[in-house]
Amino acid sequence: MPKYTVITMPGDGIGNQVLPESLRVLKAVGFDADYIHADIGWDCWCTQGNALPDRTIDLLTKHKLGLFGAITSKPNKAAQAELKPELQGKGHVYYSPIVTMRQKFNLDICMRPCIGFIGNPLNYIRKRTDGGFDEPHINTTIFRQGTEGMYAGVEWTNPPENVRATLNSHPRFKAFANVPGPDLAVSVRIITRNAARRIITAAFEHAKKNKFKAVTICEKPNVLRETSGLMEEVAKEVHKSYPDIQRWSTNIDAQLMWLNKNPEDYNVVVASNLFGDILSDAFAGLVGGLGFAASGNIGDDVAVFEPTHGSAPKYAELNPPIVNPIAMILSAAMMVEHVGETDKSDRIKNAVAAVVKEGKVRTYDMMRISGGARSISQGAASTTQMADAIVARL
Ligand code: NAI
Ligand code: MG
Repeated sequence: MPKYTVITMPGDGIGNQVLPESLRVLKAVGFDADYIHADIGWDCWCTQGNALPDRTIDLLTKHKLGLFGAITSKPNKAAQAELKPELQGKGHVYYSPIVTMRQKFNLDICMRPCIGFIGNPLNYIRKRTDGGFDEPHINTTIFRQGTEGMYAGVEWTNPPENVRATLNSHPRFKAFANVPGPDLAVSVRIITRNAARRIITAAFEHAKKNKFKAVTICEKPNVLRETSGLMEEVAKEVHKSYPDIQRWSTNIDAQLMWLNKNPEDYNVVVASNLFGDILSDAFAGLVGGLGFAASGNIGDDVAVFEPTHGSAPKYAELNPPIVNPIAMILSAAMMVEHVGETDKSDRIKNAVAAVVKEGKVRTYDMMRISGGARSISQGAASTTQMADAIVARL
């Protein structure tokens, strides 16, 4: 019997193109697993009124390990319009299945490594004062709180009376007291001490394990005094257990400026949900963009690994597929590392590094050409050819 059972959720669009390639890589490296397909995403919403079906939840509950491709999300009006006629008007509300999955299984540690591969033509470079260029090695992992913050989902347009009354009791709400309900939208930013402690501890543990000198808490406590303030307070407390690691604090706005100046100085950055989302895309842009951005959503019990890109509908119908499978393959490598098979995970990452360094096989994004049916005739590798090259290295 295989050692692991992995629930595979390709989802929508290019999720169906990249996930199978990652399974070929897992097989090539000798990862001893069974794979069970589970549905998630837009089709499930349209036909069942639920983007995260119960069977998928049950399988994840039972087997605890998931690989996920990408899903398509649309705003509420479009979601209602595409629901199959017999389900319309029955009170179905579209929720992002990933956000739901993170909350349902308390996948609160969202880990997003942004690590530059030598030879990647998309790597960040910096002009020197003598006119030359530096290409600093970027090795940053973002720890993004995955279940609360601005994405807790507690929000209203036209808040109900009791909420409005509570808001009115806050002195700062006076400025908005006369705004008509339908013209007022409110999202609640929720940070809890326990979740803050978990994500910050995960970041310090990562720094300790990898011998990084500092952990950066990236918030905005000068303005968001309560929520970012709590993150800062907890960070100070957690830091006491890691005296050999420095604790740096940056504001989210300044951090985005600094990552254009000295991104190599930041190895571990921890932030609440929205700021972590922004930071991880920003850092990913320095190491090749969405084709390279892997992630893990890790709870105490269940863990799900996914590329951070979406379903890229404009490329979903191309045959052969042209998108870069590396983000998905690196996500699979994170899963392998998560279960403790570090050697196999390193082998996958080394194979990717070797292919990137050699530079013979490059998907369209790595060639800086626009994606489309013509990419292949312009010399770009297909999704499968990139995976073939990685498998060949293994
Ligand atoms: P996206 O990530 O799907 O694509 C944006 C662009 O990035 C693409 O058009 C393409 O140029 C590039 N790209 C993405 N993945 C790539 C890859 N593997 N290789 C090469 N290039 C790649 O984001 P977009 O277009 O904003 O959203 C499309 C759909 O995906 C929406 O419905 C959105 O809600 C959903 N989405 C889902 C996510 C998820 O499943 N985790 C995350 C982000 C968006
Ligand atoms: Mg994002």
